[in-house]
Amino acid sequence: MAGQTPMPLLLAALVVLGALTWTRATAAANPDDAAAMQSIANTTGAARSLGWGTKSGDPCDGTWTGVSCDDAGRVTSIRASRAGLGGGWLRASDLSKLSFLAELDLGNNGLIAETGGDLPLLPTPLHNLRALDLRSNRFLGIPGGFFAAFPALQDVNLDDNPMASPKLQPDDVRACSSGLRSFSANNISLSFLPDYLGSASEFPSLESLSLARNMLHGAIPEGFGENSNIKFLDVSGQASTLTGRVDQFIAGMKSLVEVRLGHNSFFGPLPDTTNLVNLRVFDAASNNLCGVPSFSNAVSVDVSGNPRIGKPC
Ligand SMILES: *[C@@H]1O[C@H](CO)[C@@H](O)[C@H](O)[C@H]1NC(C)=O
Ligand SMILES: *[C@@H]1O[C@H](CO)[C@@H](O)[C@H](O)[C@H]1NC(C)=O
Repeated sequence: MAGQTPMPLLLAALVVLGALTWTRATAAANPDDAAAMQSIANTTGAARSLGWGTKSGDPCDGTWTGVSCDDAGRVTSIRASRAGLGGGWLRASDLSKLSFLAELDLGNNGLIAETGGDLPLLPTPLHNLRALDLRSNRFLGIPGGFFAAFPALQDVNLDDNPMASPKLQPDDVRACSSGLRSFSANNISLSFLPDYLGSASEFPSLESLSLARNMLHGAIPEGFGENSNIKFLDVSGQASTLTGRVDQFIAGMKSLVEVRLGHNSFFGPLPDTTNLVNLRVFDAASNNLCGVPSFSNAVSVDVSGNPRIGKPC
């Protein structure tokens, strides 16, 4: 069949393809973005590990692996996770020059911070940044004002950084409250529950909240997450004493699909989940809950390791 493709059609396709390629190749990078990217290539070590800047000084010409630009030659996306940047560092002033950047993924690299060890505090905000992934690096803390530099943030992941009781300042996190969709800060030694993230009026878009394997202590308050859009909640495995009455917050989290509360000190009766029509996973293993489970068949339930389950409270 392929041999019977009409020649004019084939030619037309080739012309269109050629024109597209040509258009792409002519969109040279904005000089300020190019300079910032060359500095990022040098300081992070991506020049060495990914060859950024070694074939061409133009980060938009397709030779910079994982870097994408818009038609005006502005860098819009950097995807360089697992790029072997261990020991490289990330300079806040370079990053804040990429004013059209929408996505930054430098996860799983062992990157360190420029000074003081904290996550980079940008001198000017990145108004277009929507996705930020800095998991599994070597940042030591969260500077006040960190989140305010990303007012359009939707998805953030800071998991597995060697922090020591980092502070999530409520007013700083609130700076990106309207669009925030997914917030993940597993295993960074957080000790205070950012309970404001459970507020449906303050964080109306939040769908996923992961704060597992931290040192959260105290109680998840009654009404946390009530009528929110949170579909996924994971606060499992705290190294400190996280407690609270599960029946007093879970029952009001109408959008819940999956909840992971295991290996903590939650107590009181199992929640009434009859109104949680989307619930599929309820994992509360190794707590101190009581009562006889009565979940719908659609829910995968793990309440093992709760000595008072199966008996009336
Ligand atoms: C990056 O490193 C190269 C090679 O060492 C050097 O020539 C260049 O000036 C550096 N550029 C920046 C912006 O740091
Ligand atoms: C937690 O993060 C540290 C880095 O701070 C990492 O070495 C460790 O493997 C992580 N633990 C888990 C269970 O992911």
